[in-house]
Amino acid sequence: MIIAIDGPAAAGKGTIAVKLARHYGLNHLDTGLLYRAIGRLMADQGLDLDDPVAAGAVARALKPADLQNAELRGREAGELASRVAVHADVRAALVDFQRDFARTPPGAVLDGRDIGTAICPDADVKIFVTASPEVRARRRTDELNAKGRDVPYERILAEILERDERDSHRSAAPLRQADDAVRLDTTALDAEAAFAAAIAIVEAGHD
Ligand code: DC
Repeated sequence: MIIAIDGPAAAGKGTIAVKLARHYGLNHLDTGLLYRAIGRLMADQGLDLDDPVAAGAVARALKPADLQNAELRGREAGELASRVAVHADVRAALVDFQRDFARTPPGAVLDGRDIGTAICPDADVKIFVTASPEVRARRRTDELNAKGRDVPYERILAEILERDERDSHRSAAPLRQADDAVRLDTTALDAEAAFAAAIAIVEAGHD
């Protein structure tokens, strides 16, 4: 079984994907990590993130070890990722790896922005996880505060809106809900309720 989970930043898709993979005994790939690693490598090498040729070369040379960096989960890497993710060459370099991962038995849950639309258009189940920008920003701010990082809510909200705008309006595989995806709005749901709703979608959606 292949489950595609897409949606904007901080809507809860990562948590849902991890829990679904555990529940169904599937592999899990956080595809954002690939773009984060490319952005981080480019920044560390002093390369121009807006240069499609340099970005494509870094993407083609990406190795599994490049993903083993705790810093990649942070806010800065998310911003770098969103910038390199606009390049068609970068996206093309990552397609085979993601598809091979999805097809490897026993199947997988992949979360990202273009899984249901571009990477796995034939996925057994597609879920588009979303939530209001204000609730997403509040969750991110609370997470950071819990780690002792005092970042203002307004700044997080502005970053989220900027990322939504860039991810949804790029020409290469923009963030959008696949026609056959089920929308899961987590605005009023806690993590447990969101997971229960995701399970219900999977159970209804595959045979
Ligand atoms: O899911 P995330 O926050 O780790 O993603 C970081 C950025 O990477 C996101 O803003 C856009 C890009 N991305 C993408 O374009 N396609 C994906 N499948 C996953 C992430």
